[in-house]
Amino acid sequence: ARLAVLASGRGSNLQAITAAIAAGQLDAQVVAVLSDKPDAPALQQVTAEQRWARSPKDFADRAAFDAALGDALAGFAPDWVVCAGYMRILGQAFVERFDGRLVNIHPSLLPLYKGLHTHARALEAGDAAHGASVHFVVPELDAGTVLAQARVPVLAGDTPETLAQRVLAVEHPLLIASLQWLVSGRVAERHGQLVVDGHPL
Ligand code: GRF
Repeated sequence: ARLAVLASGRGSNLQAITAAIAAGQLDAQVVAVLSDKPDAPALQQVTAEQRWARSPKDFADRAAFDAALGDALAGFAPDWVVCAGYMRILGQAFVERFDGRLVNIHPSLLPLYKGLHTHARALEAGDAAHGASVHFVVPELDAGTVLAQARVPVLAGDTPETLAQRVLAVEHPLLIASLQWLVSGRVAERHGQLVVDGHPL
């Protein structure tokens, strides 16, 4: 399967994807990395032909940026688009253009803590557990059907940084497992419902 990855930062999830492919754990190939940050380190993990990045400030508005991103993305003909550390909201037109093929990994146990600063918010709330979710992307932020989740304990003395590291450690295997289910066809989404091995859940 052809994977395109949207990333805005270091790309540790992208690294995990590439390593899993090399280890034969994920039947896919990364065909492109696209970013809203031309200096994103994630972009350096692929060749110049496989990367695309533009600054949103060079575009009239969100829709114009999303249209350019969508055109570039379509040019790579991805089977799946993985948002992995992509820090911009994707507009409705973009989401509908890639509907059903867009997944995101979010560092919280959705529907808890949609949006940013999830670790600090979990600590603030005094939660005993936190974690990560892989979900299908819909126009509403972090609101699509959840495909899989991984849970970690919140430990005494945790800071947002220590908690983020513990969550990141489970994000990677969670994302790889989720992507393998998708590319193998074992899991799909139909009208907002998960279908696993042909059985609607
Ligand atoms: C990760 O916590 C991911 O869940 C969030 O962005 C962070 C950085 O991801 N979406 P990466 O290391 O750039 O893959």
